[in-house]
Amino acid sequence: MIQTIDENIKNRKSIFAFSDKMVEDSKLNLIFDAARRAPSSFNAQPWRYIYARKGEESYDILYNLLMDGNKIWASTAPVLILGFTEVIDSKRGRSNRFAFHDLGMATAMLMLQATSSGLSTHPMGGYDTVKAKEVFGIPSGFEPGAMIALGYEGSTENLPEDLKKRHNAPRLRKNITEFAFHGKWLSETGS
Ligand SMILES: Cc1cc2nc3c(=O)[nH]c(=O)nc-3n(C[C@H](O)[C@H](O)[C@H](O)COP(=O)(O)O)c2cc1C
Repeated sequence: MIQTIDENIKNRKSIFAFSDKMVEDSKLNLIFDAARRAPSSFNAQPWRYIYARKGEESYDILYNLLMDGNKIWASTAPVLILGFTEVIDSKRGRSNRFAFHDLGMATAMLMLQATSSGLSTHPMGGYDTVKAKEVFGIPSGFEPGAMIALGYEGSTENLPEDLKKRHNAPRLRKNITEFAFHGKWLSETGS
C-alpha cells in the first residue's frame, strides 16, 4: 500500500471567504466530538469553547473582540468559536504547563474534522484576549486561546485584492529536516 498524507491534513487551509450557508447542528456536534477525543496531560481535558452562530447576540460579542484586520473577512463566517483552557491543575494544586498544548491538540482535531465534514476554518489570535475574559465572565484559572472562524468556503469576489491573494496563495512550509532532528539538535546552519 502506498502511504500518502491524509487528505484532510493536506486540504485544510485557513480561508478568508465563507459562504452564507449555516453550519448544521449535526456538524457542529461532530467537530466538538472530535475535539473531545484529543489526548491531554493527566486526561485533564482542559479545553473549553464558547461558540455562536451569526445572528445570535453572542456572535456579535465574539466578532467585536476581533482586530480590524480580521473583522474584514471574518464577518462572512457563519460560526465563531473561542477556545479557552484551564491553566490551573486544581487536583494537584499547581499550574498545568500543558494547558495550551492540549487546547491546541483539541483544536487541531476540531479543525481536521471540520475539513473532513466539508467545512473550512481559520484560527485567529488577533482579538482582545483581556476583554474576552471580561465579557464572558470567564472564571479564574482559565485563559483564552485562539478564536476560530468556521463555515463553508465561499466566493472571494467581494474580498479586497490582498485577501483574495492570501486566500489562494500556496501555503509555505519548512522542510522536515528544518524541524525534525534525528538524535541531536541541529542549528540553522545544519551543524
Ligand atoms: C494561534 C493562531 C493564531 C492565528 N492568528 C491569525 C490571525 O489573527 N489572523 C489571520 O488572518 N490568521 C491567523 N492565523 C492563521 C495563520 O496565519 C495560518 O494558519 C498560517 O499562515 C498557515 O496557513 P494555513 O492555515 O492556511 O495553512 C493564526 C493561526 C494560529 C494557529
